[in-house]
Amino acid sequence: MLKCFPFKCGVKEKDTELILTCTAQALLNIKKFKERGNEFYNNGRYQDAANEYTKAMAAFSFKKINVTVTSDTTAMQNTNASLDTEDAIKLYATLLSNRSVSMKKIGRYENAKKDAEQVIIMRPTWFKGYFRKAEALNELRQFEEAREFFLQAMKLEPNYEERIRRYITYINKELENKEMGLEIYQLVPGREICLKSIKTPIQNFIFPFSYEMQNLLYIIGDTKTRNCVLVDACWDIDGILQYAKTINLNVVGAYYTHYHIDHAGGIPPAPYNKYHVRVDGLAKLSKKLPDIPIYIHEDDFDGLLEANPEIEKDRLTFVKDGQILDISSSNSNGKDTSNVKFKIFHTPGHTPGSMCLLVNDKRLFTGDTLFKGIFGRCDFPDSDKRKMFESLNKLKNLDENILVLPGHSYNGEWTTIKEQKNDGPLSESNYEAWSLKYTGTL
Ligand SMILES: [Fe+2]
Repeated sequence: MLKCFPFKCGVKEKDTELILTCTAQALLNIKKFKERGNEFYNNGRYQDAANEYTKAMAAFSFKKINVTVTSDTTAMQNTNASLDTEDAIKLYATLLSNRSVSMKKIGRYENAKKDAEQVIIMRPTWFKGYFRKAEALNELRQFEEAREFFLQAMKLEPNYEERIRRYITYINKELENKEMGLEIYQLVPGREICLKSIKTPIQNFIFPFSYEMQNLLYIIGDTKTRNCVLVDACWDIDGILQYAKTINLNVVGAYYTHYHIDHAGGIPPAPYNKYHVRVDGLAKLSKKLPDIPIYIHEDDFDGLLEANPEIEKDRLTFVKDGQILDISSSNSNGKDTSNVKFKIFHTPGHTPGSMCLLVNDKRLFTGDTLFKGIFGRCDFPDSDKRKMFESLNKLKNLDENILVLPGHSYNGEWTTIKEQKNDGPLSESNYEAWSLKYTGTL
């Protein structure tokens, strides 16, 4: 015999309730879809995960009952099953919460928000609904509202305090950006860009590599002039330019923190060169926007040429350590004055011409020089570990409140100078101790 277990899903109208039922067979399917969804999620296949959670939810059936009619014996029996009712609500709300976070991962923030709102309706005392809604609002750049929902989630689940405080720290930085007239967009392959499409058959082959590489790309915009610059525009130039257009920003310049192919594009090294597929990057951008300046450090020019032999030196603008630029000086007409200022830090080590970009003395774009808890590899033929140590020492002297925005999301999508001084590669002032701790060798 099939077991039914229903639950209330909120009173929709006077004297009626909507209940959700599912048979034992349906429950087996729900669990199967949920497990498959979790597996896809853990493998980074967020759209597939969302589809599985949707299938699981579809296996429940909604039933409208009249609560005043006692002759509905099925409904009466069902509503008496209080334990099962609670479990069912939990299961459905968990599926919604899982789908919400999957939607967030693929940039469908409105959908993520709607699912989270449903979770709150179904389980108003469960922190997850508030947390998911806050995450979605954060991505929708509704920062004040996001902060409120994070705080509500924290009240309900003190174990999430540390995680939520981190979110709030970032939200406060975003609000500070707003005051400075600065807009920063962190682009993640698979979320905002590198989305497979029938229009991009060749790139579809390459995009999965971008997901694995966990690159972070940036658009830095000036709220007043709506001009922006790109940082490490790579993997999907059309997607990046389209994204800038969507957020109503006009691209007037581009910075490349170093020449590596996952940041500046080009012909991949062996054995991947056999596919004759080129990674989008500096070369494509320079053709698509021939008038914008493209900034890179000269010491990375040779490296850049290896994967991009057609690039001409005079198409690039070489930057120097300590140089200060602004968005208006990135614009060929040079007429706008901007409140957004860039300072160049030459930070060799990972590559000879690696550089970091300090914006308004408060936001540091570090490329592959510094990530959360680690620094960029120094085992390439043109890397130099000692120089990396010296470069990191240079960053150590910066204001501790500076937000660090790295070129990859290893360990996290952001950190601060303070965090890295307390517990990270900026914590060691002795080269030998630093080298042993982080590379295992002297
Ligand atoms: Fe790199």
